[in-house]
Amino acid sequence: MNDRNGLQSPLRSDALEKILGQVSYVDDLQPAGVLFGATIRTSLPGGTLKSVQRNPDWDWTGFIIVTAGDIPGKNAVKMLEDDQPILVEHHYRHAGEPVVLLAHRNRQILHAALAQIQLQERAGADPIWDVDASLESDTPVIPQNTYTDYLLQKGDLSAGESECDVFVELRAETSAQEQLYIEPQGMIAQLLPDGRMRVEGSMQCPYYVLDALRQCLGWEEERIQVVQTTTGGAFGGKEDYPSVIACHAALLALKANGQPVKIIYDRSEDLRVTPKRHPSRTRVRLGATRDGELRMIDMDFAIDGGAYRTLSPVVLSRGVIHAPGPYHCAHVRVRGRAVFTNHPPFGAFRGFGAPQSIFAMEIAMDQLAVKLGMDQVALRRKNLLRPGLASATSDVQSHDCFAEEVLDLALARSHYYEKRAAFAAWNQRGGDTRRGIGLACFAHGAGFTGNGEIYLASRLSLALLPDGMVEILCSNTEMGQGAATTLAQVAAEALGVPLEYVRFPAVDTSRVPNSGPTVASRTCMVVGGLVATAAKKLRRNLEERGLDLERFDVGQYREHCAALCAEKGGEWRVTETYQAPPGIVWDEKRFQGRAYASFAWACYVAEIEVDMTTLETRLLHFTAVQEIGKAVHTRIAQGQIEGGVVQGIGWALFEDILWSDKGTMANDRLTNYIIPTSADIPEIDVVFLEKGLGAGPNGAKGIGELPMDGPAPAILNALHNALGVAVTQIPASPERLLRILHGHLEAVQ
Ligand code: MOS
Repeated sequence: MNDRNGLQSPLRSDALEKILGQVSYVDDLQPAGVLFGATIRTSLPGGTLKSVQRNPDWDWTGFIIVTAGDIPGKNAVKMLEDDQPILVEHHYRHAGEPVVLLAHRNRQILHAALAQIQLQERAGADPIWDVDASLESDTPVIPQNTYTDYLLQKGDLSAGESECDVFVELRAETSAQEQLYIEPQGMIAQLLPDGRMRVEGSMQCPYYVLDALRQCLGWEEERIQVVQTTTGGAFGGKEDYPSVIACHAALLALKANGQPVKIIYDRSEDLRVTPKRHPSRTRVRLGATRDGELRMIDMDFAIDGGAYRTLSPVVLSRGVIHAPGPYHCAHVRVRGRAVFTNHPPFGAFRGFGAPQSIFAMEIAMDQLAVKLGMDQVALRRKNLLRPGLASATSDVQSHDCFAEEVLDLALARSHYYEKRAAFAAWNQRGGDTRRGIGLACFAHGAGFTGNGEIYLASRLSLALLPDGMVEILCSNTEMGQGAATTLAQVAAEALGVPLEYVRFPAVDTSRVPNSGPTVASRTCMVVGGLVATAAKKLRRNLEERGLDLERFDVGQYREHCAALCAEKGGEWRVTETYQAPPGIVWDEKRFQGRAYASFAWACYVAEIEVDMTTLETRLLHFTAVQEIGKAVHTRIAQGQIEGGVVQGIGWALFEDILWSDKGTMANDRLTNYIIPTSADIPEIDVVFLEKGLGAGPNGAKGIGELPMDGPAPAILNALHNALGVAVTQIPASPERLLRILHGHLEAVQ
């Protein structure tokens, strides 16, 4: 770690109160007169709701009941398409869809009442659980059962094919993955005396929630206030779903005479109905010349979108762009489809489709090396992007391309070749375990894709307050990832003041401009860039009024700022709007051009050991090398990488969602959805290269999603190295390895 001094990594502003358990999460808030809300849901995987029957003998006084007929605005969750009802009226597509909302001031009575309402449902067509079955269906639910169909095309695939001597073809599969944020979803809504609706809760994107409430209630923005409560993790899982639960809480609050209504999901409900990582299957065909020059990449990438469109097109787009990896190749075709099934909708989860497609590409590269009789490293090195070479989207690389540097550093840090030889010798001895080493090369783009940041036109303000402090006013959220500290650090540095002079308040849409959602690794780079620009502007304005840090010590400076602020009438704001860096031209129809302002570059190395009796795979060591432009806060950046690697290890080896016959998560408990614990995690060597050429403050790039991309392919390539058998599906659980090894033995006998 290049954490040379404490200045680079000041104490996180939210650390102490979280460690001491002093912060209030949404379920800790107990506003006076609060009612508790609950949801009655469909039980069949798609069908028609015939009727809702209330037990007439039950005492319904004190209850609030909401059905679709109570929605004053449009009965559609505001997302990319208005296809998902807020509450089911007639037709529905998956088990667990909300139909009736109930509220009562006593949680026990509320719970008892749930059984007093019966839904009469009629089953629809046979449910579809699988991407290929869905694509082949004769009775599609939506056209071609496809939400989105993208095509990235470069060169001429058949020309490329004729240049190749060697081909590999495989089908990779990845399973759903639960974000498993620490705090389940929850919201509190209240109709205020002045007629406004106030909604607070756990979320990533307050303005998404605001938009959803506008559409649901049919109200003007001014009548709606969305406040983020301390958020206990999200990882993409609180990107779209908070809009659903916020609408539900608000609909109950509309009928509650000003009493607040709180909906908190318990873990099981959260696991059953909220979105997870899209399952995927990818058909890959790679072709190369005899000496290992990649001449053809052909991928058919399909993700399971579930029953509604939600954010699937965005996830798919990122998956398609990242699919061909950090390689140059003249002939590339990636077809990407997001496909309908009867599962609850899948959604955003760290990496946004890129981990799925990168997994397929990087295990295929390993197989290509085997087929060529070539070293895995040499094959990659030969084809890696370098300055002046064009990527699969025909993006000619600038000097901000470090694919080979991270590879070299990863080889050196992990002692790759020594380990490989040592593991081969270990395996030769034929003991109880087999060892293997594998790597993955990848890059991850930060920010919205292509012109997305321009459409978003993020706005952000800095406010000088009467106490001389500066507040960052933006819609980006601290959810445990360290944004509050990182952004405050950027502001303090640009202003030239101590970190303690900068505050990062929780987001309240009635107070902050829309600086966009907290997603897509955009906060540090895009929003941080805006913070830096606004801070420099504020500093210039102050200097023009004689307030120059050269002339005062910091204490005096702050007093003068406070005095100036009082003169200005209490608060002095500067506001900045996002300006795209020059040179980003993106053709979103052909998937050609410059998709992101910056890419971070990485090479990860996994060392594993397989117990040949139990077929459990254990990590021995993990090396994560990345070029990230600049680490604003080194420890937070390190934490992001470590956390992402752990989630990647979980996805690769342990996390397995089992589906009930209704298509909802069956292992809906923390006891049976297995994630890595500290006992499963090896030492993770996190190494940063900081070349300072990113689009963010001081050349920083986004890193939130990056570490999710590399672990699964590196681990599976290590398994390939250890067992001599290619595994193309994750999780690579002992059960799966048993089936594969068994089949393999039968095949060679
Ligand atoms: Mo996200 S997966 O929060 O961009």
